[in-house]
Amino acid sequence: MTQMPVSIEPIAVPDSLDAPGAEDFVAVAELLNAQLREFWGNDDFYGPPQAQLAGRRSTETRRREMLAARAGTEPGGTIVGVALVNLPLTDNLHTGYVNVVVAPSARRQGVGTQLYAAAEELAVSHNRRMLMAETEHLLPGGSVQPESGTESRIPQDAAAAFAAGLGFRLELVDRISRLELGSAAAGIAVLQQAEAAAGAGYELEFWSGACPEDLVEAYAQLRQKMSTDAPMGGLDLAEEAWDEARVREAEGLARDMDAEVLVSAARHVATGELAGHTVLEVFRNNPAVVYQDDTLVLEGHRGNRLGMLLKAANLVRLREVVPEALRVYTWNAEENRYMLSINEQLGFRAIGYSGEWQRELSAG
Ligand SMILES: CC(C)(COP(=O)(O)OP(=O)(O)OC[C@H]1O[C@@H](n2cnc3c(N)ncnc32)[C@H](O)[C@@H]1OP(=O)(O)O)[C@@H](O)C(=O)NCCC(=O)NCCS
Repeated sequence: MTQMPVSIEPIAVPDSLDAPGAEDFVAVAELLNAQLREFWGNDDFYGPPQAQLAGRRSTETRRREMLAARAGTEPGGTIVGVALVNLPLTDNLHTGYVNVVVAPSARRQGVGTQLYAAAEELAVSHNRRMLMAETEHLLPGGSVQPESGTESRIPQDAAAAFAAGLGFRLELVDRISRLELGSAAAGIAVLQQAEAAAGAGYELEFWSGACPEDLVEAYAQLRQKMSTDAPMGGLDLAEEAWDEARVREAEGLARDMDAEVLVSAARHVATGELAGHTVLEVFRNNPAVVYQDDTLVLEGHRGNRLGMLLKAANLVRLREVVPEALRVYTWNAEENRYMLSINEQLGFRAIGYSGEWQRELSAG
């Protein structure tokens, strides 16, 4: 293999896109966008540099770093690859997330390996010992029947071969599904069935943007539970720490990224407690595309069709609030049968898989 000589340097997030040095940030943002376009075959995941400005900044709960590989050893060479490093700051202090992207013209010349080595060094300097990475794989031809066996769903393509070659182990497989929103009538029929099944014991609360003050503590508890209750396979992850400040931080980040976040939560009428929630996210720059984020029903409230009720109700509301929305993407652990079954009933179809990989550094 020919090795491309590169120099690797950190890229700072500038204050604005006009600030000195912002060209490097924009080059990285566009390299990431080009890879998303190459992978998805469309611009559904395009992140305008302005939105990436907010999304790539460190916060109280996450340290975010970018390392760029420049062609050649002279200063100012073209940026041909990037490693994004994400370090949790309030929990899971042993972990770090790494994402390496190399421009197509520079691939297979050792650039990815050099970027990964620099990312690992950075993570070690922050005392991390467990690195995690995600790979994504689209199914040819769109929707298919899920196969059996987890490993078989992740093909040995460039991303998987790269991760495995670096010593990462596949720990969890998520199904990537998409819902074409189609007619509102279909959504309302599903919602009515779920309402009838859930009965009168629960009331739905909706908000967009900021969680109402009187619910925020309960909502933080739900967000925290989400970090332990969704299947995690062999990933070495501990419970996240959520409080009101973290909820407000996440809301502020969404605002800065020009995203609308629609939350629906179920209140148990007899006790007043929040029993579950679900979250949809839409970026204003591309309202055709929606992300289905968290969905959780607390253990004592499961089996009452609340998962379906929450999701169906939030989708009906989405159609009203964002009529331009056309499709919804979601990621669910392949072993999460209950969630997958709800999604299938709502009309989601599998379009691919993502692999969650982990590497323990001390194990070499
Ligand atoms: C995955 C990716 C980062 C690899 O970058 P790269 O600079 O080409 O990687 P390297 O040249 O350092 O390759 C290292 C090893 O990975 C494996 N690999 C990389 N690309 C491969 C391919 N197309 N097919 C099979 N193995 C491949 C090989 O084992 C390779 O070693 P070798 O060339 O000596 O056989 C690049 O293909 C890319 O940007 N893909 C899109 C984004 C992505 O999937 N990122 C991975 C997130 S973990």
